[in-house]
Amino acid sequence: MNESELVLGGILEFLQNINPSIDSILITDDALSLRMEQNRSDLNNLINWLLYNQKSNVKILILTRHIRKDKEWENLSYRYPNLQIKNYEYIRITPVLFQEALEHLYDTKPQLKQHSRLHDDKSNQKSIDRKGSFLDRFKPKLKAPTELQATDTLTRELDKISRGISRIVAITGHSGCGITSTTINVASEASKRGLNVIIVDMDIEYRSTNMYFSSFHERTKRDEDINASLIRTLARPQDCLTTAFHLKENLWLAGLGYSFSDPKLIEQFYTSSKLVGLLSLLRNKFNLILLDLPLNLLDRFREALIHIDSFGLCIPNNLYAVLSTLRNVEETLNKENTAYLNAKSKVIVTKYNDRSRFQGEIFVPDKVSAIATSGLLESFTYGMKVAGHVSYDTDFDTQIETDVPLVYSNKDHERAYGNILLRLLEGSS
Ligand SMILES: Nc1ncnc2c1ncn2[C@@H]1O[C@H](COP(=O)(O)OP(=O)(O)O)[C@@H](O)[C@H]1O
Ligand SMILES: [Mg+2]
Repeated sequence: MNESELVLGGILEFLQNINPSIDSILITDDALSLRMEQNRSDLNNLINWLLYNQKSNVKILILTRHIRKDKEWENLSYRYPNLQIKNYEYIRITPVLFQEALEHLYDTKPQLKQHSRLHDDKSNQKSIDRKGSFLDRFKPKLKAPTELQATDTLTRELDKISRGISRIVAITGHSGCGITSTTINVASEASKRGLNVIIVDMDIEYRSTNMYFSSFHERTKRDEDINASLIRTLARPQDCLTTAFHLKENLWLAGLGYSFSDPKLIEQFYTSSKLVGLLSLLRNKFNLILLDLPLNLLDRFREALIHIDSFGLCIPNNLYAVLSTLRNVEETLNKENTAYLNAKSKVIVTKYNDRSRFQGEIFVPDKVSAIATSGLLESFTYGMKVAGHVSYDTDFDTQIETDVPLVYSNKDHERAYGNILLRLLEGSS
């Protein structure tokens, strides 16, 4: 194990200084320079060194998206038959490719097999099989008895929370982190459980609730009032039950249709003071008022922040997401409001990847919260509870354009959003 990364340009120095006994060398794109002539000359030097030191049995495998086998590279393989270049077309090297590369390098036969498995159909098949078995690990959890029990606990706990409550929750985060999907699933789960719920889609840049509720979207196309429902609801909060779109029994939605564009009306009604007025009125009519409110809007609506009971801060469990969330907060809010958001937030770990790691350990939800408040951002150091996590799901977008949020079609997600709902409601007086 090297302390620092080993790039192709540094390999000769490394070999000369350490003089390790080498079996094989695997070179990936990370080790290459941006200049192809440089790479070729570095590789040439490496080959010379190996030949000169009678180490021509050392296999070299280059796993790359960049190097195409042209004449010049082929010359090198000709001089050094144990050099193999393999191209792949994924964004990153997949685990299967790595494994096959290692299998190839461990293979004690000095020459390559004629047909490497790196590219044939079997490798595809294998990756499909693996995906299956990876998912299988979750199957025991899906067994009916456990599931029933979990749902029952949830029901009991939710029942403990008085039906008389009224809670204003903003789902926020860096755009793209899963804000809208969280909003509509938590709202749907709450309505399923008998709460009166309204979704207020404040994200007029994307208006993504249209994507999740096609009944709303279809209606906006032929009904100007519904097309403007967010503006009309902000303008006349007392009429919210008619200005908002009635999705189903106890679930309403105020948002904009894609074709609504009236800068004057937006300027007049899409304001902090109108939102404050709306929220105070909605409190009397709904148990749960859920705002789709990405971080970059918090500044525009800063005067309304104190009227929001809690924030569900969506952050995926990777370092990039944590950092861009903090940067987004820093760019949007002053210190005071940053501290306020921090104190009022619970973390929702979205797109949760159970293989994501941080400093050698699995990047668990609590870790996401711990790192976010570790002092990377001044005024954001107050410990945040985790409301729950939503697993990354390749079938996630099946809920789009269907009017059927995942909580209706997928038991795992139903439970996940149910727990998040519970945590977001907790602490309400
Ligand atoms: N748990 C998840 N698993 C897989 N993809 C997800 C998940 N959550 C979000 N996504 C992806 O991210 C996209 C954006 O999600 P969305 O909830 O609309 O985010 P935002 O409102 O923050 O932009 C979705 O279309 C989906 O492709
Ligand atoms: Mg959105």
